[in-house]
Amino acid sequence: MGAYEEVYRSSVDDPESFWLRAAEAIDWHVAPRTALDDSNPPFYRWFPDGELNVCHNALDRHVAAGRGDATALIYDSPVTGSKRTYTYAQLRDEVATFAGVLTGLGVQRGDRVVIYMPMVPEAAVAMLACARIGAIHSVVFGGFAPKELAVRIDDAAPKVVVSASCGIEVTRVIEYKPLLDQAIEMAQHKPERVVVLQRPQATAQLGERDVDWATAAAEATPADCVPMKATDPLYILYTSGTTGKPKGVVRDGGGYAVALAWSMSNVYDIRAGETMFTASDVGWVVGHSYIVYGPLLAGAATVLYEGKPVGTPDAGQFWRVVQEHGVKTLFTAPTAFRAIKKEDPDGEYTRKYDLSSLKYLFLAGERLDPETYRWASDLLGIPVIDHWWQTETGWPIVANPAGIELLPLKAGSPTVPLPGWDVQVLDINGRPVEPGTDGAIVVKLPMPPGALPTLWNDDERFVSSYMKAFQGYYLTGDGGRIDEDGYVYVMGRTDDVINVAGHRLSTGGMEEVLASHPDVAECAVIGVSDPLKGQIPRGFVVLKAGVQRDHAELAAELVQMVRDQIGAVASLKEIDVVPALPKTRSGKILRKTMRGIADGLDEPVPSTIESVEVLEALRPILRKEKTG
Ligand code: COA
Ligand code: AMP
Repeated sequence: MGAYEEVYRSSVDDPESFWLRAAEAIDWHVAPRTALDDSNPPFYRWFPDGELNVCHNALDRHVAAGRGDATALIYDSPVTGSKRTYTYAQLRDEVATFAGVLTGLGVQRGDRVVIYMPMVPEAAVAMLACARIGAIHSVVFGGFAPKELAVRIDDAAPKVVVSASCGIEVTRVIEYKPLLDQAIEMAQHKPERVVVLQRPQATAQLGERDVDWATAAAEATPADCVPMKATDPLYILYTSGTTGKPKGVVRDGGGYAVALAWSMSNVYDIRAGETMFTASDVGWVVGHSYIVYGPLLAGAATVLYEGKPVGTPDAGQFWRVVQEHGVKTLFTAPTAFRAIKKEDPDGEYTRKYDLSSLKYLFLAGERLDPETYRWASDLLGIPVIDHWWQTETGWPIVANPAGIELLPLKAGSPTVPLPGWDVQVLDINGRPVEPGTDGAIVVKLPMPPGALPTLWNDDERFVSSYMKAFQGYYLTGDGGRIDEDGYVYVMGRTDDVINVAGHRLSTGGMEEVLASHPDVAECAVIGVSDPLKGQIPRGFVVLKAGVQRDHAELAAELVQMVRDQIGAVASLKEIDVVPALPKTRSGKILRKTMRGIADGLDEPVPSTIESVEVLEALRPILRKEKTG
């Protein structure tokens, strides 16, 4: 038996012992004696009798162990031309001070704090400060528009919002404060206070509710770590579901800390003193787990990079960061590599830098296409590891466990289930399929520590979204197969979720925006393949009877509505006005068929179709063929 197989076996044969052993990597106020409370399925609770503070584990314990001078966080910002390194002691102090700011504003354990910030160290400081005092943070990605932010503010009902005056995109400075003010205006729930980090690129006007970060920090009394139950929520992270209402994924502190600590050494092969560079954003789960919490729990150094893979200013920035900070493991989304490949197809920039420290490239967030895999692999000459997971799971489900054993790669597969994840493929009737056969990818319950215990204030939606389709299994929403050797292949979502440049978005949410236009009778948004972003949305609208509109003008209006209501990240740029949408006889729009045709596949015409003519009329539009 290989090393991986042995570890995996022990995790399924006796999960409770496996995870109690893994829990020894964490510093507990009260060490757990029980691994799992499974008395109320599908609501499982890991380490129900444990108590810890996640911030203590990420910062204070390393300082106490004499590693206060070790590097904790490296802020590297080509868009502002600044770099700053924080040792563990310095980061602990900053976090304790900001925790004092929050307590001074009345934030107590269990209160929510929404964080709407660009990629600045203060975003991580705010997250850790919440963890320190037992407040629950909810980070909202800066690319979301005020309406999306408002929906999250209403759901999380934060006492305080923490923000910055601006973020910096490739071509423009984005003022956050007016967006935040609009969001609060729209929301029913009004936070008591807003803390604003002023940045020199655009300072914000502060009103009565607002508090200047620097002034408040100068006056604050540092706050200490508060012991929390392992099952207490550490954060809420909203993610796109099938409708416009995002799902508030809850993360408990104890299970998450244990799972992340385990994954750092066993998956990413990162240990104390080594450097991990996760090029994502703190607004996504990848940023929560592997920019902030994971590396710090491991006592490693994490790079917080404010910039893009290209254009800030060039396609060599990832390589510069690797050289300057001695990065061992780089983690990003395939789209970032496609962007680099487009700008620098021969990898000229890699030759300008010393990349000898770089041992692994991990990719996730969307399907890794074989061409990008080969290009990255040939260019870097190191293992390029595709791995599959979701906001809900908090850490990888399927990966090549580099820290245990590097298994042979199979193109198109993120390799094998990690310990704790009993991954299976079921057919439509919930029966296991033969190896190599496609079906719904599910995880047999209970899931390991770190996975979501529920949705914020919505146990019912938790059950209906994930637990109802197949009794005893978590529905991942992805389709795919497992081959004879146990390798998992993830083929894509089976619902209305798409991944655009690694950003998870809801086509259902975009449809809600289009449908709200007074001239639109009905609409469909589908995700189609895109050579750079993996997928992009395309919209199709049918006009209300009697409406005479210039199609291009209407399309432009609709594009703007989506930018205004969801955000620029939605990347919905193409909308066609069509006479009708193809439907089944029961009235369901044939989105999957439309997607297949748009992607150039040989899509069979479903037998349940209401009118073949409607689909045939749409075919050239989907294929973008010129019509008469
Ligand atoms: N704040 C405000 N606006 C943002 C934003 C943020 N944090 N992030 C993106 N946007 C805007 C962009 O400026 C762009 O606006 P535009 O339409 O006016 O040009 C729009 O949202 C779309 O952004 P994006 O899809 O990121 O496209 P891009 O052309 O700016 O960059 C890539 C393309 C591939 C370089 C970029 O998506 C990338 O680096 N991806 C890395 C993957 C990643 O971080 N994934 C997260 C999960 S791992
Ligand atoms: P998110 O919740 O934003 O992390 O997005 C999760 C979704 O991204 C998954 O359900 C998949 O559809 C997709 N995804 C993530 N990683 C991979 C991968 N390695 N291969 C294929 N799809 C992936």
